[in-house]
Amino acid sequence: MSTQGKLNKITTAVIKDMKKKKEKVTMLTAYDYGTAAVVDEAGIDIILVGDSLGMVVLGYDSTLPVTMEDMIHHTKAVCRGAKRAMVLGDMPFMSYQVSVEDAVRNAGRFLQEAGAQGVKLEGGREVAEVTRRIASAGIPVMAHLGLTPQSVHQLGGYKVQGKSDAAAKRILEDAKILEDAGAFSVILECVPTLLAKEITESLTMSTIGIGAGIHCDGQVLVINDMLGIFERFTPKFVKKYANLNLQMKEAVTQYIGEVRTGVFPDDAHSFL
Ligand code: KIV
Repeated sequence: MSTQGKLNKITTAVIKDMKKKKEKVTMLTAYDYGTAAVVDEAGIDIILVGDSLGMVVLGYDSTLPVTMEDMIHHTKAVCRGAKRAMVLGDMPFMSYQVSVEDAVRNAGRFLQEAGAQGVKLEGGREVAEVTRRIASAGIPVMAHLGLTPQSVHQLGGYKVQGKSDAAAKRILEDAKILEDAGAFSVILECVPTLLAKEITESLTMSTIGIGAGIHCDGQVLVINDMLGIFERFTPKFVKKYANLNLQMKEAVTQYIGEVRTGVFPDDAHSFL
């Protein structure tokens, strides 16, 4: 059989199969070529070019100011670095809420211009039609329920969602509606562990948790949080696997000292 045209990429079929085999899906965000190459070479399954870009890279207070142009620019860079991982572009605020036509066109840009393999968008039943239309255009869609940061003003802050029985029921129903609409996976952000378990067991699509406990089919974190680069605040669900902020400050302080005292550049770093 010819291998021409064979995808070496992680596909939605692979992600679905992982759920059947009870293999955990690993996912991290990335926003640039270098970081994408590192996480890809380390073996991550999915790279999300999250609109968290706005907070951890661009310095905004929320994700709301992020534009399609910002997202396309960074998704292009990530796609150049990711050889094996599936790359998903996060649809920014107002890129899918105004009309279904806008939503399909903007989702298409992530694949056509940036080279991503799919998109993610926030919301429940209110984005079911948009999800259905994007998925029917052949674009894999990851849904996002629970704490949806683009609705921070409506939610009244970055809080755990689905705590009451009614709120939990609504999230569970939304997950099923989005699965029926064609989503291949759903992020569950900041929901109680047992609710995430119930949702995970009720769906054939994979659940990816962030602050949603151990029972999800996979996990995602913002890379700047888990590497300890972003220091402005650290949510409870973030485990820091490194403290790069401190290491970067130490390295820069040493560099400043060595330049000021004439230690750098020495002969080993000069053309003699
Ligand atoms: O924008 C983002 O990085 C996200 C993750 C937190 C899931 O949506």
